[in-house]
Amino acid sequence: MRAIIAGSGLVGATTAIALHQVGIQSVLYDQVDLVQAALSSGGAPVAVDFGDSGGSVMLASSALRVLRTLGLLDEVLASSLPSTYTNWFKINGSAPIVMDTAKINKDCGETDPALQTPIQILRSKLHNILMQACHKAGIRTFTGKKLVSVNQTSTGVFVQFADGTSAEGDFLVGRMVFTQQLPTRRQIFGESSKAEFTGVIGHIGVVKTRLNNITLKETCAFYLEREKKQLVCTFKVSDELAAVQVMTFNDPLPVEGDEYRPYSDLPKESTRLADLLADWGVPKHVEAMMRKSFRISPAAIYDLPDLSAYHKGRVVLVGDSAHGMVPNAGLGLLTGLEDVGVLLELFRNFRNPQDLSKVLDLYSQLRVPRGQDAAGKSRDMAKQYYTGSSTIGHFLLRVGIFLFNHNLVKYGKVYDCPTDVAAAINGVQAK
Ligand SMILES: Cc1cc2nc3c(=O)[nH]c(=O)nc-3n(C[C@H](O)[C@H](O)[C@H](O)COP(=O)(O)OP(=O)(O)OC[C@H]3O[C@@H](n4cnc5c(N)ncnc54)[C@H](O)[C@@H]3O)c2cc1C
Ligand SMILES: *[C@@H]1O[C@H](CO)[C@@H](O)[C@H](O)[C@H]1NC(C)=O
Ligand SMILES: *[C@@H]1O[C@H](CO)[C@@H](O)[C@H](O)[C@H]1NC(C)=O
Ligand SMILES: *[C@@H]1O[C@H](CO)[C@@H](O)[C@H](O)[C@H]1NC(C)=O
Repeated sequence: MRAIIAGSGLVGATTAIALHQVGIQSVLYDQVDLVQAALSSGGAPVAVDFGDSGGSVMLASSALRVLRTLGLLDEVLASSLPSTYTNWFKINGSAPIVMDTAKINKDCGETDPALQTPIQILRSKLHNILMQACHKAGIRTFTGKKLVSVNQTSTGVFVQFADGTSAEGDFLVGRMVFTQQLPTRRQIFGESSKAEFTGVIGHIGVVKTRLNNITLKETCAFYLEREKKQLVCTFKVSDELAAVQVMTFNDPLPVEGDEYRPYSDLPKESTRLADLLADWGVPKHVEAMMRKSFRISPAAIYDLPDLSAYHKGRVVLVGDSAHGMVPNAGLGLLTGLEDVGVLLELFRNFRNPQDLSKVLDLYSQLRVPRGQDAAGKSRDMAKQYYTGSSTIGHFLLRVGIFLFNHNLVKYGKVYDCPTDVAAAINGVQAK
């Protein structure tokens, strides 16, 4: 079988690597228009470097399991930092609440010590590892290819790109255009399948901490003033580098859609945002991180309504295009990598092209509840951050984290793709 993968982001690229493991040949197409595009669109497999943008992404045990299955875990761990604790503070750095994430993952059933501690990794670093792995597997990537239409028949899919070119395959793993409501998406996934802008813009700075003499104690820290809707977070990604992310409500949309292009006028933006943080009364090192950032990418925060299926015919959605969620619980990428793990395991069990519809049916059946659960948790977290009184909100968060830390309430159960797939297949066979 041949797959067309529209969107060579973190989840799209991981999907290509997974499909390669089960002998499905795929080609990646991304709308980004890079300088290398001219080179890569010649068709020779080159490792496309998407360049540097964004900040840190967090990955916890179920996502690390998928990377292990794909043979990428060691390389990813070597390029990341363990995120043992998550810390929440009031905006000025007082009243810390500490979540023992490693212990909680253990309590949720992660038995492998190597996977109990979540990691922080620079998004561009992770993307680079994935694109190199695609390259090694001989998977081709074409850039400057914005998917604009899809035509399905009983035997395959036919897609068109904005530049007038097209491609054919047995099935499409697609973005189906996350933020814009194109006719193709509406036609395939319904009127309500458009992501809504939440009014929040994230500004993600990356800073050389050591070079700037900035000491950052916590690997993962949030600073909040609920009543003023102020939120800033910091993530250490290596001994040298860290990300700082501030959320604002009244900035204009940087770009329409989910592109994260770094600001071109860096001194102006870093000064504006650092001054804003100083105004909010954040700890000095947080302000300094923003002021000294060597790149800042704006990201408009969208929330995709819950879809009732992640496939239709020969089109299947993975990652943000299936369940794009607000970032507040750090579950977006993890949920996307679980999608890949499940799809891989299903194709391992059903290799016959005639079984494609069975694979995609089971995929939706397994993934929709997980996607909805993660999106729901993320919305709850956003609500906990942005509503309620400062004192009571912080107190309630403290109580919640206490219950998780002491295993009085379970955060969830560790998710293992092969186990879930085996249970679903047994369920089908029992019927
Ligand atoms: C540049 C960037 C920076 C980010 N930075 C952070 C961060 O700092 N922290 C964090 O937690 N999350 C960040 N995210 C979000 C996080 O990476 C995603 O939640 C996660 O990667 C989900 O993976 P995905 O593959 O579904 O989507 P993405 O990684 O968003 O990838 C989607 C890809 O699809 C392409 N695409 C979109 N529409 C089309 C189309 N019509 N045709 C062809 N290609 C298309 C895009 O160019 C993009 O490369 C970032 C995303 C991007 C794109
Ligand atoms: C931080 O803010 C809290 C109120 O939210 C205040 O009680 C405390 O004194 C402040 N601490 C410092 C060091 O300014
Ligand atoms: C869809 O593809 C089929 C087969 O390639 C073709 O016959 C048909 O005209 C196409 N329809 C559209 C709307 O492009
Ligand atoms: C960092 O500290 C060292 C030693 O104290 C000093 O020489 C250097 O100039 C400082 N760098 C910056 C960017 O402040």
